[in-house]
Amino acid sequence: MSKLLHLSASPRGPRSESLAIARTFLDTVREVSPELPIEEYDLWDGTLPAFGPPAAAAKMAVFAGEQPQGEAAAAWDAAIATFHRVDAADRYLFSVPMWNAGVPYILKQLIDVISQPGLVFGFDPERGYQGLMRGKRAAVIYTSAVYGPDRGPAFGADFQAPYLEEWLRWAGVDDIETVHFRPNLATADADSGRRLAHERARDVAKRFVA
Ligand SMILES: Cc1cc2nc3c(=O)[nH]c(=O)nc-3n(C[C@H](O)[C@H](O)[C@H](O)COP(=O)(O)O)c2cc1C
Repeated sequence: MSKLLHLSASPRGPRSESLAIARTFLDTVREVSPELPIEEYDLWDGTLPAFGPPAAAAKMAVFAGEQPQGEAAAAWDAAIATFHRVDAADRYLFSVPMWNAGVPYILKQLIDVISQPGLVFGFDPERGYQGLMRGKRAAVIYTSAVYGPDRGPAFGADFQAPYLEEWLRWAGVDDIETVHFRPNLATADADSGRRLAHERARDVAKRFVA
């Protein structure tokens, strides 16, 4: 049975543009596929484990074919549990604000926690990495308020979409649809761009569960 997991990386609740577009997406999914289970994972809800010294030690131990011990074993168990929560879904909706040209650190933290050998990726010394999260689909909603693809370098650069999509493909998720809402708050009226982004979210959502 398919399951859709919404991973939300904006902490701005009702003021969030990406969460508003995500709501449009999810409402459309509920209309066209009412039986599809949808789970919400607010990455800011405090349940995401840290990935500090014990977890990094555990990762390097596992990579070397050893068993993590003590604090490292506990950190490893927490990382595995988080991976299983994510891996239990086969469709993902990410809502992703641009923060300082990249993704909010809480999303990078999720990626650091779950990107483990034998879970998200395999590794072969001759062939390199192999993504293990196959047969899944992702939709991503990106927002920014200064950067825009046509605005020139003084308005910033995009390490948000390339970073997340590179990670998804590396993990084996290569079926990716995107919605971008990037109003230029300094000059433009955001309403028409917002309307288009919500329309696109509806279209992508219909295809996503077809
Ligand atoms: C910490 C922080 C950093 C930001 N950095 C950028 C940035 O580098 N470039 C940009 O265009 N907008 C930046 N913004 C603006 C947000 O991307 C924009 O407000 C977007 O709508 C946030 O998504 P949300 O409304 O879903 O929270 C930043 C906002 C915050 C809170």
